[in-house]
Amino acid sequence: MLKSRSDRYGAVAVSIHWLSAIPILALLGSGFRAANAMDATSKAALLRFHIPVAIIVLFLTILRIVWWWRLDRKPLPAKGSLLWQERVAAGVHITFYVVILGMAASGIGMMIVSGAAPAVFGAPGAMLPNFANYPPRALHGFGTFLLVGLLVFHAGAALYHQIIRRNGGLRRMWYVGWSGN
Ligand code: HEM
Repeated sequence: MLKSRSDRYGAVAVSIHWLSAIPILALLGSGFRAANAMDATSKAALLRFHIPVAIIVLFLTILRIVWWWRLDRKPLPAKGSLLWQERVAAGVHITFYVVILGMAASGIGMMIVSGAAPAVFGAPGAMLPNFANYPPRALHGFGTFLLVGLLVFHAGAALYHQIIRRNGGLRRMWYVGWSGN
């Protein structure tokens, strides 16, 4: 079942969701470590991981937007949800897209205006800049703050549905139960 049904997400939506969630956590880890790295060599090594993973997340996010916009429809809200909860959930999901795209744009902007690419990708003798001197860095930091807040809220809401409401919240976002069980 590639497309979503009224009661659950389809295989494409489930795959994009989890294939994005894992690298986003890796981006938070590698980004914080890069920002706090004491020496240029380890900072550059972390960024050689961070940047390609971010590009993958960017493509998955564009794919996700196109998928929902042109090819699939969201399931109905989880059973027993109140209208305000549905609205907040929809707002959180859209804000995720905006923040992820903003993080990618500010990251790319930071690399362009600082001219850091040769130093990050290993040109001999190239010096890493101080990213804090470039305006996109502040946006990247603010985006990080928003993203962590959204993730905590989003995962908390999913667990609330799963554990407290017991309405199979997490199951809707996995590959089980497509025959209706
Ligand atoms: C798409 C999602 C992205 C996420 C979730 C993400 C996440 C992060 C995080 C959490 C930090 C640490 C921020 C802080 O401590 O304030 C960081 C730092 C950094 N990110 Fe990203 N990032 C993304 C995309 C990118 C892209 C596309 C690039 C470059 C092309 C990039 C380049 C950097 C650099 C250079 C730093 C280190 C800044 C410093 O040393 O001060 N990021 N990122």
